[in-house]
Amino acid sequence: MPNNQLTIALSKGRMQDDALALFARAGIVVEESELKSRKLIIHSADGRYSFILVKPGDVPTYVEYGVADAGICGRDVLLESEADVHEPLDLKFGHCRIAVAGKREVIGQDYNLLATVRVATKYQRIASTYFQEKGVPIEVIPLSGSVELAPLIGLSDRIVDLVETGRTLKENGLDVIEVITESTARLVVNRASFHLKRVEVGELIAKLTEALNYDRNHQTGY
Ligand code: PRP
Repeated sequence: MPNNQLTIALSKGRMQDDALALFARAGIVVEESELKSRKLIIHSADGRYSFILVKPGDVPTYVEYGVADAGICGRDVLLESEADVHEPLDLKFGHCRIAVAGKREVIGQDYNLLATVRVATKYQRIASTYFQEKGVPIEVIPLSGSVELAPLIGLSDRIVDLVETGRTLKENGLDVIEVITESTARLVVNRASFHLKRVEVGELIAKLTEALNYDRNHQTGY
């Protein structure tokens, strides 16, 4: 691949469409036939950008190891991975919260009533750090999905999970107990690419910034 091209890792799933729409507004367009394909590597129409489509939690890994020059993933994923990457831009979409949640009847319950709080989560590092700082001993129960099930069937006392609309919690009789942090999509850049491809990376950041500024100026109540 010529050196003036950039490879960008995109989170498959809930962020993919928003990310590609932002790139299109920034003038980096992927043709419909590419978007409709099941290919895991797709290209912009001008051939300057390759996008690799990966699991959200893997984006920081691809970028840290330099097989992707840049990537887009949620702040939640970055906090959990602690990858050594540049994070130059908040892309403002994909807003969600990382929260402690539990059954409605435990809201307001003192943690001291539980010797060790069992916390089911996909965010083991975020959960451990949060409760450690509060001085609450926990046992982390690692799960990779459907985390809301855990308190319902007695696997855990609490969960730490992503909350976007709140619908999954509500429909399973759970509620937010504490919000740990907020998250939005971020542009991340490999540290070496940031220097070795500074012209291309700078141009990418400038195009995305311009699209974000345009969005901000054309949104009512922003
Ligand atoms: C995430 C998260 C919650 C849900 C929250 O799961 O873990 O389960 O979305 O969204 P809501 O607040 O809009 O209801 P995801 O859809 O990624 O699936 P998963 O259960 O496989 O992790």
